[in-house]
Parts: sequence; C-alpha cells; structure tokens
Amino acid sequence: MELGDAIVGRRSIREYYTREVPMDLVKQVLVAATWAPSAKNEQQWRFTVLTGAAKSKFTNSFRKELRKTERSIGSPAMGSAYGSCDIMEHAPVLIIVWNAGARGWETEVHGVAAAIQNMLLKAYSLGLGSLWIGDIFYASDAVRAYFGKSWLLTAAVSIGWPANSPLPMTRKPLEEVAEFMS
Ligand SMILES: Cc1cc2nc3c(=O)[nH]c(=O)nc-3n(C[C@H](O)[C@H](O)[C@H](O)COP(=O)(O)O)c2cc1C
Repeated sequence: MELGDAIVGRRSIREYYTREVPMDLVKQVLVAATWAPSAKNEQQWRFTVLTGAAKSKFTNSFRKELRKTERSIGSPAMGSAYGSCDIMEHAPVLIIVWNAGARGWETEVHGVAAAIQNMLLKAYSLGLGSLWIGDIFYASDAVRAYFGKSWLLTAAVSIGWPANSPLPMTRKPLEEVAEFMS
C-alpha cells in the first residue's frame, strides 16, 4: 500500500466482525510500532495484548471502574467512555499501550504516540480496522492497578476486521493550522 493512501485512507473503526485476528498479524502491527522514532531511541513503548477471556475480564472490570468514576464526576461528564468500553468489549483484540519512560522527559510519551500511529497505519495496510482509545483515562489508576504496572498509561488500541467503512471526518484546511515564514 502506498504510504499517502494509508495516511489518508485510515479511519477509526468502531465496529468489528467477531472473526479472530491471527496473532501473526497482531505481531506485525506491534513490530511496526517498534519502528517509530523515540527520544534518544529509548523506545519507551510497552504493550499488553488482550484477547478472549483476558479481554472480557478486563473490560468487565473497566466498566465497573467507569461506574465509580461516574459516581464521582457525574454522568454528563462521562462523554463517550461507556461507548468506548463497548467497543473494547466487542473488538477481537485490545492492546493497552504503556509509557515505560523512567526519565520523566516530556518527550517520552511522544515516541509512544508515534508508535500508536504506526500501529494504526500497519493495521490498515493489513486490511484490519483499529481505534485509538483515550477514554481509557476515565479509570487510568484502576487500569494500572489491574495490570500491576508502574508504567504510565498512554492509550488502548482496539483491532479487528472492520464491519463498516466510515466516511472521513473533516480536516481543518492547511491555512488554519499552518503558518509559513520566510
Ligand atoms: C488521542 C486520541 C484519543 C482518542 N480516543 C478515542 C476514544 O476514546 N473513543 C473513540 O471512539 N475514538 C477515539 N479517538 C478517535 C478519534 O475520534 C478519531 O481519530 C477522530 O474523530 C478522527 O477520525 P479518523 O480517525 O477516522 O480520521 C481518539 C483519537 C486520538 C488520536
């Protein structure tokens, strides 16, 4: 697949077929992640891959944690959190992405974010759908405790065979987001 086509053609996919994703493909997605740039090449990304019963156990626990969050911040503030939880539940593969950066550099998370973008593009090139899920932060301390990690949580990424083809979301024109100085 041509890179430009992948960059423009990739979409956030929120509906998946239940068909299993071969672990070989998941590993290809993760290898692509590891080719991202990172500050001082310290490669702070870490991944926890969940499928089957391990994924169900996690999403059940996450939903309970969302209810606790809701009790403290109120339901109007929950945004798309429950919807994202449903997506995580139904996707065949869920990858928790961590930032193991131990130096406290602000830039450590940037490499992890670049790794996530590589994952999404590689998944797309393999015919897979994916979603970058920030709603995992609605219970971030609980997620870290669940997995017993001291690493920082960066995101969750769901992966599966796409069951729909969403139209592209609009993009701001270049004039609005870039300035050129010479
Ligand atoms: C940091 C980040 C967090 C996101 N979190 C969520 C999320 O929790 N739930 C969700 O449905 N989509 C989430 N998205 C997907 C965005 O909504 C999506 O990328 C955006 O609407 C543009 O659509 P596109 O990816 O199809 O181009 C997230 C994307 C990013 C980059």
